[in-house]
Amino acid sequence: MKKLLSLCLTLSLMLCAVSASAATLEDVQAAGKIVMSSSPDFPPFENLVVDVQTGADGYEGIEIDIMNKVVEALGVTLDVKATDFDFVLTDVQNGAADIGVSGFTVTEERKKNVLFSDVYYLAAQVIVVVEGSAIQSAADLSGKLIAVQSGTTAEALCLEEGYNIQAYKANVDAELALVNNSVDAWVIDNTVAKRMVQEYNQAGGKTLVILDEPMTEEPYAFAFAFGSETLVDAVNVVLNDLMTSGEMAAIFEKYGEAYEVPQL
Ligand code: ARG
Repeated sequence: MKKLLSLCLTLSLMLCAVSASAATLEDVQAAGKIVMSSSPDFPPFENLVVDVQTGADGYEGIEIDIMNKVVEALGVTLDVKATDFDFVLTDVQNGAADIGVSGFTVTEERKKNVLFSDVYYLAAQVIVVVEGSAIQSAADLSGKLIAVQSGTTAEALCLEEGYNIQAYKANVDAELALVNNSVDAWVIDNTVAKRMVQEYNQAGGKTLVILDEPMTEEPYAFAFAFGSETLVDAVNVVLNDLMTSGEMAAIFEKYGEAYEVPQL
């Protein structure tokens, strides 16, 4: 009986823990804001922009624009909590943030720990090399050292394939490692690769090349704690509105990207 009682107590404490960290729609409306955890090193989805005049941190990108539509619809404000990609889902799980927005690919593994919104975009992993590299395709990656961002699906893919990896906290460090010849290739999401390589090639000393071989399909969505179902539903309404009204396409266009509603 004692055992049963303590089991009941443990269970109810666990339930408490779940509901304490999960933000419901009512919670965010009562707080008047949505706290969004994000790794702002992922242009054109989220990027850190420092105000030249005030020196204050600001954030821009496709997912910031989408979130601005979300908070507008919910009648709350947006509070961005910047962190390393590795910590975004932890923030969501332990209640430090209401939503994780970071170009997240929905995976079965992640679904064990968080809820996902509907998918709003399909990306893919690609390989980036320095022009003239002997690496011409994924088949050339074995035995080579590959830069990835820590905690990403790029890292998971490379480990699964048995490649040697060097994991970096930020994408810009992975890119730098490639430029400095510390690694042989860099694996990253295609749309971000395109943007970062474009920017590097305009200013950089070397020429980076993206290999024309999408290696995976990466369905992007936003992440929430278990128990946040009402918030997920409210966000899904906004996402679907944006997708069907053409506003999502307009947001992508603003950042120079073509957009198609994902057919899943
Ligand atoms: N789509 C990949 C993933 O989910 C990479 C996301 C990286 N995001 C970022 N903001 N750095 O693992």
